[in-house]
Amino acid sequence: MSRGGPRGKVPGMRLRFGPLPPDWPESVVPWMAEALPREALDAGKFARQALCDPNFDPEGLVLAFDGDLPIGLVWAVHRSVPLENAPPDGDRGYLVLLAVREGFRRRGVGRALVERAEAFLRGRGARSAWVCGYAPGYFLPGADLAYPGGCELLTACGYREVYQPIAMQAELWDLRVPDWVRERAARLSQEGVRVEPFHAALTLPTLEFAREHFRGDWVRWAKEAIRDITLGDDPRRLMLAWRNPDRPEVLAYSHYGGERFGPIGVRESERGRGIGQVLLYETLQAQKARGFRCSWFLWSDDRTADRLYRAAGFREIRRFAYLRKEL
Ligand SMILES: CC(C)(COP(=O)(O)OP(=O)(O)OC[C@H]1O[C@@H](n2cnc3c(N)ncnc32)[C@H](O)[C@@H]1OP(=O)(O)O)[C@@H](O)C(=O)NCCC(=O)NCCS
Repeated sequence: MSRGGPRGKVPGMRLRFGPLPPDWPESVVPWMAEALPREALDAGKFARQALCDPNFDPEGLVLAFDGDLPIGLVWAVHRSVPLENAPPDGDRGYLVLLAVREGFRRRGVGRALVERAEAFLRGRGARSAWVCGYAPGYFLPGADLAYPGGCELLTACGYREVYQPIAMQAELWDLRVPDWVRERAARLSQEGVRVEPFHAALTLPTLEFAREHFRGDWVRWAKEAIRDITLGDDPRRLMLAWRNPDRPEVLAYSHYGGERFGPIGVRESERGRGIGQVLLYETLQAQKARGFRCSWFLWSDDRTADRLYRAAGFREIRRFAYLRKEL
């Protein structure tokens, strides 16, 4: 990684770049947590989600310093460990984290960090850079529109918006299953669709469903949920809609982990029958029964929000810009 001198406008600063300093929990995390206040960032989360990420490469983590003082950070990822069942994405790179310490902004530090991250990604063979959509360890679906400067900086650096993912939350205090959802559940049951918590006999049909109908990160979600459930976690953590006891076929699943809802997915050929609504309410009831007072998720699009989530009481709590740039 280059530790060269300043680029761009850096009046009054002794700007240099380097790796994560050994005292990062004290010298870096506190101002990053302030720059990204909605992420509840602490040293544990940074260690777990960034440093232990399967694709973490120290060269992709660039710190900016004013003299010896850390004042900025960018973490870029290029995949070296393939994601099970996902198409290869070696032509892409991801900017996962970016922050500049308050008091050091609008002096070109953010832009210089983005440029270094892009140089790292280009060197690894990426032809485009994305903010963000990185799995498995993503922090955010994109730049939170409520954070000051993120979208503006990235736009100034040549990034263009792909679309705006939204995060939503539902209060569970007064959760009631509407009559029309109960009626749909009864009709599905008459039609031979069972809606049940995961049990071990459904392991292979569940994995087959995730593999064939939802490429990408779904197989990992399913495996993690199955591992946790078989070690004693709530089986309702993974609710399944399935049919054909002689040769079980999973049509849909819905998942939660703590207060976090999702993913939920219905096989394309089975959409429009109410399976998604029924599973959604099953999962919300399971979360409520575990004592959670709200349910939230980080990533939906406006169309799915309108079709599925708003009717169940979810409201938008965050909006992101999902951005890309050709390198
Ligand atoms: C976004 C952030 C990293 C920018 O860092 P920075 O060092 O201030 O950025 P730069 O000085 O390099 O800005 C470069 C250009 O980006 C644009 N820009 C940056 N911040 C801006 C702001 N608050 N408002 C409008 N434009 C802005 C400007 O075009 C700027 O050029 P200019 O100063 O000549 O007008 C910093 O504001 C931050 O940490 N914000 C909170 C965390 C965050 O949003 N991270 C991004 C999530 S992906």
